Amino acid sequence: MKTSTPQPIHLKNYQPAPYLIKTVYLDVSLHSSETRVTSRLKIVPNKRATKSAKGGSKAGSKSVPLTLDGENITLENIKIGGRALDAKQYSVDEKSLTIKSPPTKSFTLEITTICDPEANKALSGLYRSSGVYCTQCEAEGFRRITYFLDRPDVLATYKVRIEADKATTPILLSNGNLIESGKADDAGRHFAVWQDPHPKPCYLFALVGGDLALKKSSFKTKSGRKVDLRIYVEPGKEDRCDWAMDCLKRSMKWDEKRFGREYDLDIFNIVAVSDFNMGAMENKSLNVFNDRLVLATPDTATDGSYEAIESVIAHEYFHNWTGNRITCRDWFQLCLKEGLTVFRDQEFTMDERSRTVARIEDVRMLKAHQFPEDAGPLAHPVRPASYIEINNFYTATVYQKGAELCRMIHTILGEAGFRAGMDLYFDRHDGEAATVEDFIKSFEDANKVDFSQFKLWYEQAGTPELIASFDYDETKKTAKLIFEQVMQPTPGQSRKKPMHIPVRMGLVGKSGKDLPLKTKQGDVVTDGVVHLKKRREVFEFQNINERPVPSLVRGFSAPVNLTLDMTTSDLAFLMANDSDLYNRWQASQTYATRRIIEMVEGLRAGKRLNRGKHFSEALAITITDEKLEPAYRALCMELPSEADVARVIGTDVDPGAIHKARQAFAKRVATDLKETLKGIYKSSSGNGDYAPDAKSAGLRSLRNSALLLLSKIGGEEQIKMLGTHYRSSKNLTDRSLALMLLVDFKHDERDKALANFYKRYKNDHLVIDKWFSIQAMSSAKSTLNSVKKLLDHELFSIKNPNKVRSLIGVFAGFNSTGFHRADGAGYNFVAEQVLDIDSFNPQVASRMLNSFRNWRTLEAGRQKLARKALQRVARRKTLSPDVYEIVTKMLG
Ligand code: PHE
Ligand code: ZN
Repeated sequence: MKTSTPQPIHLKNYQPAPYLIKTVYLDVSLHSSETRVTSRLKIVPNKRATKSAKGGSKAGSKSVPLTLDGENITLENIKIGGRALDAKQYSVDEKSLTIKSPPTKSFTLEITTICDPEANKALSGLYRSSGVYCTQCEAEGFRRITYFLDRPDVLATYKVRIEADKATTPILLSNGNLIESGKADDAGRHFAVWQDPHPKPCYLFALVGGDLALKKSSFKTKSGRKVDLRIYVEPGKEDRCDWAMDCLKRSMKWDEKRFGREYDLDIFNIVAVSDFNMGAMENKSLNVFNDRLVLATPDTATDGSYEAIESVIAHEYFHNWTGNRITCRDWFQLCLKEGLTVFRDQEFTMDERSRTVARIEDVRMLKAHQFPEDAGPLAHPVRPASYIEINNFYTATVYQKGAELCRMIHTILGEAGFRAGMDLYFDRHDGEAATVEDFIKSFEDANKVDFSQFKLWYEQAGTPELIASFDYDETKKTAKLIFEQVMQPTPGQSRKKPMHIPVRMGLVGKSGKDLPLKTKQGDVVTDGVVHLKKRREVFEFQNINERPVPSLVRGFSAPVNLTLDMTTSDLAFLMANDSDLYNRWQASQTYATRRIIEMVEGLRAGKRLNRGKHFSEALAITITDEKLEPAYRALCMELPSEADVARVIGTDVDPGAIHKARQAFAKRVATDLKETLKGIYKSSSGNGDYAPDAKSAGLRSLRNSALLLLSKIGGEEQIKMLGTHYRSSKNLTDRSLALMLLVDFKHDERDKALANFYKRYKNDHLVIDKWFSIQAMSSAKSTLNSVKKLLDHELFSIKNPNKVRSLIGVFAGFNSTGFHRADGAGYNFVAEQVLDIDSFNPQVASRMLNSFRNWRTLEAGRQKLARKALQRVARRKTLSPDVYEIVTKMLG
């Protein structure tokens, strides 16, 4: 908790650690509320640090104090070289332990501390989840286990002895290889010793102890080594791990093929726990997962969950090379491992599934989460320059925008050039803690290019606006494109430099084919990519014999906001003809958004707008085109979300009006296409058994998207259809979709389905999470009251992050009519919950507060109410640094 005002840490002040820790021996005796940890560290003065220190004192000549991080632990014992220190030789405070004058040569430090896993509800450090001991050390959790140099540039090898009661805690795991195990005493305790040969920063340390069941398999690497694969889960859930295991093997294979990276130990463990702050964690050879990202059967997981499991299993596995073998020098470099690893998992999904569909889904996520972040008070560069609490920087900007930067490097260099840069990066930095500069330099050196301008993407926050204009000269047969990049100011950055923006583009001729891009100078743009480097760039293309329609930023080749004045008939033309499927989808979104915004304006001016069928007709062409993948057609049927519309409107946002307009527009489209949609619904009805692969999931999503759109008509006929869909569903995907659509209606089909769903799944905590979120998402007026009531439900627990996210998080982040109620009750409710949760789990609390991040874009009435709610949070005297940082930035 906050004692004094938390102070920011700055990248520019980075200093190497004064000491290094070479080896760690940990002896952990697990007891639920009094776990004793003895650590024996081999410490050496850091030559690099003493050299770079001002004053230039000779390496090792003078003793420098050694300050170790430590939090929420009680010191029992401290020795150097086997001799106990006396009280004058060290000091301890809330956050650290300082040894005033340690030996000037290498020495052994031994420290014994006590911690309380049972009481640890912050879920950082060592804690218990449903009786299972587990650890979470990223970013700074290791200091809650023992005193240490808790920073990623201190790499050590670890040997860990774990001891526990055998009956309740039969499984004992840590990183690396098991080298010894056996009976510890006659009182029923046993032990295991694990050794990890790879030096690692302490944030990758993990330990697990509990009564767990396991699913075993193995993988043969390309050099012929056999790796044991094990997934540990709550007993009784072993049969829910097949999919995760399959994903793991495919990930291992893919990384060998696409990046030439082989796994480096003989064992790879995954443990699923039910209390976890994030998705999963890449601890060396011992990944710990939120169980929702491991467990799946057709009856208990949706297609969305299967897909999420695939990408997170891959993500954590890929960290073994991008994050673990090469780690980060400091937490400012977080994107070095996260952005790159997201890029890798995105490519994996694209290779395993459909490139276009995966790309659209990724861009949708980026625009829904990262663009608003970049446009609000929490905007920060992909590599931030300062932070108060690093946990607040596991953001969409670091992850998703970070991945986009890797993707742009890939676009600029091509697959071969990208791979050459990656190979050099692995060659040069394996076993090291690296920086973004090291990463960029590898691409520059491998490709003989200069990326100094490109590097600005890591430093400048905000989404560039790309303003394009197009002109066709009938007589000269030339097409002219003018691009201007505009960078809005963001907190702490008022003026910005122009960036290198790769724009993939085409000029689409009447026939639907791309015309050749030949510039004035006679250059032909063969790869379809033009490079913008100045604030204003003009391209003039020759020999264009007909007026084409420009298709810009194809495949979303750069994370920018594009504006180009286009007629709706040009948009409809692209929807039907663009060879770039991503831009066909984008054109339909742009078109629909434009219509919805007109309706919002109409509503707010007290006018009723009713446009013709033009959009519906254009949409019908795509969604009935059987040459296109079902999953793609399904995506095209999904209209822009309320949040998408709000983002485009940008200021004076009225979420109530947006909801009404979008509903009306959807109803209009659904009514226009009623027979078509019914036809799609009927013809794609799956009859075979459930299979989780992309193709089968695509068919289900096509059918479900048709149903979703039809439901917007909202009559008795549609509600009955939903009821039937619910009752006849044979998997959770169909069942939960029907329920989700039903909860918007006041009807006994809704009540029946909700009750049935509960009865069916009350012993399945992960599916019950869906039951909570579906109710929290309802646009019914009574939702806030239902959510409040559900807080007292016997299956709800405020201490469990999945439950909190499902109920409160979904309400705050995905229910715009509920959260943005005009009376402010939604804001007050979320603010109260944030304060409550902050007293035991700051990470979860501060994430929840994020739902306020665009409060300044709201219309005046709501803005005032949101500010009040935020001020209430800010007034609390005992805020965690996490919430303190977010709320001050938000109000600042
Ligand atoms: N490093 C994890 C990942 O793979 C995320 C994480 C961060 C998990 C912090 C726990 C705590 O993205
Ligand atoms: Zn990650």
